[in-house]
Amino acid sequence: MLKYSGSELYVEKVSLSKLAKKFGTPLYVYSEEKLVSNFKKYVDGFNDVDSIICYAMKANSNAEILKLLASFGAGADIVSGGELKKALNAGIKAQKIVYSGVGKTAREIEYALKSNILMFNVESFEELEQINKIAGKLKKKARISFRVNPDVDAHTHKHITTGKFGTKFGVMYEDAFGFYKKAAAMKNIEVVGIDSHIGSQILDVKPFKLAAEKISKLIDKLETVGINIRYIDIGGGLGIKYKKEDKPQTPADLKKIVMSVYSKYKDKTIIVEPGRSVVGDAGIILGQVIYGKTTGTKSFIITNIGMNDLIRPALYDAYHNVLPVKKSSKKQKVVDIVGPICESDDFIAKDRKFPILEQGEYIVVECAGAYGRAMASEYNSRQIAPEILVKGTKINKI
Ligand code: LLP
Repeated sequence: MLKYSGSELYVEKVSLSKLAKKFGTPLYVYSEEKLVSNFKKYVDGFNDVDSIICYAMKANSNAEILKLLASFGAGADIVSGGELKKALNAGIKAQKIVYSGVGKTAREIEYALKSNILMFNVESFEELEQINKIAGKLKKKARISFRVNPDVDAHTHKHITTGKFGTKFGVMYEDAFGFYKKAAAMKNIEVVGIDSHIGSQILDVKPFKLAAEKISKLIDKLETVGINIRYIDIGGGLGIKYKKEDKPQTPADLKKIVMSVYSKYKDKTIIVEPGRSVVGDAGIILGQVIYGKTTGTKSFIITNIGMNDLIRPALYDAYHNVLPVKKSSKKQKVVDIVGPICESDDFIAKDRKFPILEQGEYIVVECAGAYGRAMASEYNSRQIAPEILVKGTKINKI
């Protein structure tokens, strides 16, 4: 989606310098072509299995992006009442919405029941009892699955590993069978699915197979006691290429490995909850150099992109590639590229070889479409940066 034409960097057919001059910086910029092509890889990858692609909207919940994905048939994986509202407003069908999260409140459960969503991915027994109670009050039957923690290691960052024991997510594999039996006996509960989500930024799909094998055993055991699972939710988590050496696998690879376990079931629908791999590399942050400085042995490029615009480096020590908008023949130096916020962890890149840009020059932070704007804040009383969707030569403020 990013290309130099001559010495100028473009998103699709739009010059980033021009965009920066028109809208100011920092600015989130997304490529519609890349977004759609990422989503279509899921649609195509899973086209020969009965499936629903439930976009994990926590990655980026911009209304226009949701509408765009809805127009290609996306469902949604939501984690709050706020997300449910945004999903429905964007035209995502309630029958394609799954509700995850460890702390669904009574109000949120009631709203989701009234909206008639596809299912709740239940994360504790107390939550199940709460859903049963509220469904009873509303004279409804709540469709549920349990999010089962399969205790597999997704080999990713410790902050985004979710499928191991000791995390707050899901119910323990060993408890699941008993919980399902109790759920099946509850008056206002209809057991329809099973769910697991093992982590995020997963570059190798093998752990998905380990999880599927455990989940499949549980499905078979449940069916011996007459509990029939219609939906198998395999979660999200496919990684993207942040670094040159990252070799992410594709939705087709994911389909292949999970179906090596699940293809024996002819009557079930597979649900996938991708977030990052749909929007991550379809978005950038455009910013500007404010100053340069050297303190002791360390050199800094101070920019107007703060940790309030992109918190991933501060929070996870995440790597994001940075590019100058105008190809530079200037001398390169090892620098820290930082933001203007009063925190030592307010950085974009550390010890990075980068041309010594001057005041006012523009830069781009790559792979900021997922968990960029979505995790933005007004810290230091900074404004949330605007968002632009580019399609060919068209520019749309979204
Ligand atoms: N489903 C569930 C239940 C999840 O908790 C998540 C992400 C997803 C799906 C989507 O995962 P994805 O396909 O995006 O990997 N803020 C962190 C990532 C947190 C992920 C939380 N859960 C980051 O910036 O790396």
